Amino acid sequence: MGPCDLGATPEGYSANAHSVFDPHTRELHSLAFLYDSQHAQHIVMNESGTVVRTTLVHVPGNPYMHDFALTEHYVILFDAPVVFSAVQLPTGVPFVWDESHQARVGVMSRMGGDVRWFEVAPSLVGHTLNAYEDGTDVVIDIVRHPAGFNIRDFGASRPTLDRWRVDLVAGKVREDRLDERIQEFPRVNSRCVARPHQYGYAAAVELYAPPTGPEDPRPNEGFSSALLKHDLVRGTTEAHEFGRFGAVSEGVFVPTESPVAEDDGYVMAYVHDAERGAADLVILSAQDFTGEPVARVHLPVRIPLGLHGNWIPGDPSSAHP
Ligand SMILES: [Fe+2]
Repeated sequence: MGPCDLGATPEGYSANAHSVFDPHTRELHSLAFLYDSQHAQHIVMNESGTVVRTTLVHVPGNPYMHDFALTEHYVILFDAPVVFSAVQLPTGVPFVWDESHQARVGVMSRMGGDVRWFEVAPSLVGHTLNAYEDGTDVVIDIVRHPAGFNIRDFGASRPTLDRWRVDLVAGKVREDRLDERIQEFPRVNSRCVARPHQYGYAAAVELYAPPTGPEDPRPNEGFSSALLKHDLVRGTTEAHEFGRFGAVSEGVFVPTESPVAEDDGYVMAYVHDAERGAADLVILSAQDFTGEPVARVHLPVRIPLGLHGNWIPGDPSSAHP
């Protein structure tokens, strides 16, 4: 809607790819990595867009911190063996996998202070589904790229849906696989952000390299693009399949006007239609996930494949020109 100067505060602020809005406190949290100082900066903004708090976190080795997570009381940081490399700057993609860099998950109070770091298996957290507190445990649901992740070859990675359960009393992390299927762009009902959730949605898609038509020579005959609905309480997953050529982007959960359940709403995503050479906006009923779509809007243009998605509700009569 326009530029925001974050309250005209005197410090300079940066931001990484993803900010997290907490609908319960109405705060917007952001995390910036500052490669010139080996620090990350946690930034909290209020609803009017003014920075109300910042915390500098020492993170040696300049890891790539694309996303982070919030719980009711904590900020969750991901330290990964994908690190900034000045040598690679001329390539335009200055990040490399560094075997010697320990993967860790950090838990810090939302009010700032020291970070408690816990070691995890070598991996890169691509995106967070959500995180929440369960007694003295912190539960973190993530899409995790396995060891050896090469940022120049996203399509070769096999990211899965994992859960890290941090036991803050015992000081341990339990790492569990929730779903083996390749997936990215996890989303939760935005009302559940930083609080417990039952359902999660994700796109099963070959990242940034989905086949674009029958002439595509890549040997991925068995691959099918799909939107996934995970029931993380029952431990089940439903898949709405779009087939090999129906490359799907991020599925966004949109609640009904007066929802009576966490999954009372719709999941919307762009799905490439290889025959038309253009994208459809597909709307699924979240409670009838594998049924026929509620709507399939044939857009007159291509939408770049493998992108994030968001839905901004509003009154069309008051829309900006
Ligand atoms: Fe992202």
